[in-house]
Amino acid sequence: MKAFYKLVLGFTLTFSIGPSDIFAGKPVDMLAFSLPDGNGGLKLASRAGADKDWHSIGNFHSFLGSDYGAWGSGKKMHNVRIGQDAQGIYWVLFNPDKNGEVIAFTSSPDLEHWTPQEYRRSDSDYMKELPSSLILESLSDTSVQGKDVKGSVITVDSDLISRLDGLVHYQAIKNAKNDERTDQDPWRFKDLKPLTATVTLDKNGAKPISDEFIGIFFEDINYGADGGLYAELIQNRDFEYSDKDRKEWTPTSYWIAKDLSLSIDTSNPIHPNNANYAVCKTEDRSGYLTNEGFDGIVVKKGEKYLFNLFGRAVSKTSLKVSLIDKDGKVLAQTKINVPAGSEWSKLDSSLISKADCSNACLQIEIPAKSEVSLDMVSLFPEKTFKGRKNGLREDLAQTLADLHPKFMRFPGGCVSHGNGIDNIYDWKGSVGPLEARKPLPNLWGYHQTRGLGFYEYFLFCEDLGMQPLPVLAAGVPCQNSSHHSKYTHDELTANGQQCGIPLEDMPAYIQDILDLVEYANGPADSEWGRLRAEAGHPEPFNLKYLGIGNEDLISQTFKERFKMIRDAVNAKYPDITVVGTVGPFFEGSDYEEGWKFAHKENVEIVDEHYYVAPGWYVNNRNFYDNYDRKGPKVYLGEYASHYPGRESNLECALSIGLYLTDVERNADVVTMTSYAPLLSKKGRTQWRPDLIYFDNESISVSPDYYVQQMYGANPGSTYIPSSIALHEKCCGKCGRTPKEISADDVTNRFGISTVVDETTGDTIVRIANLLPVEVDVNLEGYPSGMSEITVLTGNPRDTKVEPSVSKTEINGSVSVPAYSFTTMRILSNQ
Ligand code: AHR
Repeated sequence: MKAFYKLVLGFTLTFSIGPSDIFAGKPVDMLAFSLPDGNGGLKLASRAGADKDWHSIGNFHSFLGSDYGAWGSGKKMHNVRIGQDAQGIYWVLFNPDKNGEVIAFTSSPDLEHWTPQEYRRSDSDYMKELPSSLILESLSDTSVQGKDVKGSVITVDSDLISRLDGLVHYQAIKNAKNDERTDQDPWRFKDLKPLTATVTLDKNGAKPISDEFIGIFFEDINYGADGGLYAELIQNRDFEYSDKDRKEWTPTSYWIAKDLSLSIDTSNPIHPNNANYAVCKTEDRSGYLTNEGFDGIVVKKGEKYLFNLFGRAVSKTSLKVSLIDKDGKVLAQTKINVPAGSEWSKLDSSLISKADCSNACLQIEIPAKSEVSLDMVSLFPEKTFKGRKNGLREDLAQTLADLHPKFMRFPGGCVSHGNGIDNIYDWKGSVGPLEARKPLPNLWGYHQTRGLGFYEYFLFCEDLGMQPLPVLAAGVPCQNSSHHSKYTHDELTANGQQCGIPLEDMPAYIQDILDLVEYANGPADSEWGRLRAEAGHPEPFNLKYLGIGNEDLISQTFKERFKMIRDAVNAKYPDITVVGTVGPFFEGSDYEEGWKFAHKENVEIVDEHYYVAPGWYVNNRNFYDNYDRKGPKVYLGEYASHYPGRESNLECALSIGLYLTDVERNADVVTMTSYAPLLSKKGRTQWRPDLIYFDNESISVSPDYYVQQMYGANPGSTYIPSSIALHEKCCGKCGRTPKEISADDVTNRFGISTVVDETTGDTIVRIANLLPVEVDVNLEGYPSGMSEITVLTGNPRDTKVEPSVSKTEINGSVSVPAYSFTTMRILSNQ
């Protein structure tokens, strides 16, 4: 790809030479095709006149990708057929599966913008859904520039081929812009001298902005919940691990049995949601059941650990429960007595560790000639965040609190809508007594106990003063689902694509969603409010937002279900603001169709996502400037900056700091933002970059964490626009007027946002400098006085960096270092 950019940037535009130049305005044949392995999407080629050979347009450029199926195994395109209807609209049909059971179709006015793909079984009557005037060309085998391919041919005007060539060039230039990075600065800015910036406030342009600008996105990805924020120390406490979570897992995974027979029974469980339990039988000597937790259990000298399990025994049995280190040394010990009989008893005890240990195990000793059944074997540090029972890991929760987030999204991400309908996150399975909660396979390849469920989430929001923002599925699972579960439906196809909860099941699904609002806000004597009260919280949680959908394919199936849900929520709970979705990206068919739909349906807020390179943020700073002020608001619900390969460093964080100055300028439209993902356990990372990395003992935060914190800790409620004039810094001796710098390369890398925190009257100035030179900033029209200044700076490649914090008198100017993000809080009350 790089070589390709070089061609573009080096102005060697050789690949545009083809029949289009010779036969402008003439009819030419255009071949639509895909490659034999199905990868790489829709390709186009042309030939004109007597020419027998096909010329690939844009060197096998992809004009359309397949959206079908899971990443990795799916997203293929075979047997491409193209046609045009009476309106001149192009239609493309293809098989996303090699055996041709599924047919995919989409249309486009220009071969650039496409409608969201629809999928049908190829034995269905799908042709009835297409325009009757569509003339679909037949499939043939041919060869393009030495590659054997399958495709179909239509005749088009050669101007179209020229336009497509232009599109390819344009996209290559855009890609090259996205690929801009500070490594190139020694060349890009070889003549750049230190600068001055004169920033002039325009107080007349002040406007109110959202005071919920910075929030957090929580998803159980990268072991964010179980083994992470959720403080439970035992892994597979419920014996519910299975091959549905991960191929190699069984109900006894992470348990080691010595001198006892360990089997799994389901005949008389504590609760049907928690079907498995362990049966341990010993013979002539004691046996041991050991759990190593999530990569070892960390215990601290003198600290208390709360132990409990559900048990029953054939005859009364005394269990010795110990925390041991790797050499078998006992760190703490207690005993519990398991009563005889067929009833389950919940048995509690506690252990105080005699020493620090980072990789302890829990060991349960079962005496000789015994038979005991065990389930929900749990060990919690007594010290959790705010001392909550079944609570959160104190240091991690505090790290989140230190971001000062105004809202929290939960349970995801893809976890919300799941891998197939049977994996949609059903909130009801995540509340109530732990032993009755319904574990759920996590689509990131592990197990969700859902001990950190909706109750714990609402409580954490309350503890941190955040608005809860639950995101529930719009009646459709993830568009990258690998299967359809048990459901079949007319419009469903074979395995592997977003489908919908069958319409006859939608009323029950919608009722579940309404019940969540009642659970959060309903009186303590309402059906679902009662459950909240029983958990210890009779007061409502004051839920005001409800997200419906995540990165969905904006298909008919989605639209129909989203509308049903939203109408029902609006009718019963008019005060709840529904947040919709516009697909997984900042452009493309779901984004376009999602916005059309959101406008038509007057959706209050829509969720946008993008994970892109720092160069994208630098070069798209006006992204929201022209958004319709009267249309739906935006929740920028997932975003991050990373290089190809997903590396991230200070440069990426600074690009976000810079871009957020622009988003904040538009915070009358973009009312909420959350960086994603939030948490990642070292050695268990599935997605990068993340805001916070941790292991069982320690936490290290990314440079991005500090950018989020600098915004979060300094929220504004009024935005004051400013203009920026950049000049070369002058020595003041020669008398010449300093040169104004207006080159986009430079101005795009310097940004300011000024807000007022109306609760304190403080003025907050954020200055992002992605230039390799220091900038002296003259502040025209700003208040002066004592200011708290936080500066994040370093080598752009740094992955570990901390901001410096100081307090100083500001009087009309400040200097910001090269490659820095600065927050200046000018205190009103000095
Ligand atoms: O943040 C990680 C994932 O990215 C989310 O689960 C999903 O919504 C997005 O694709």
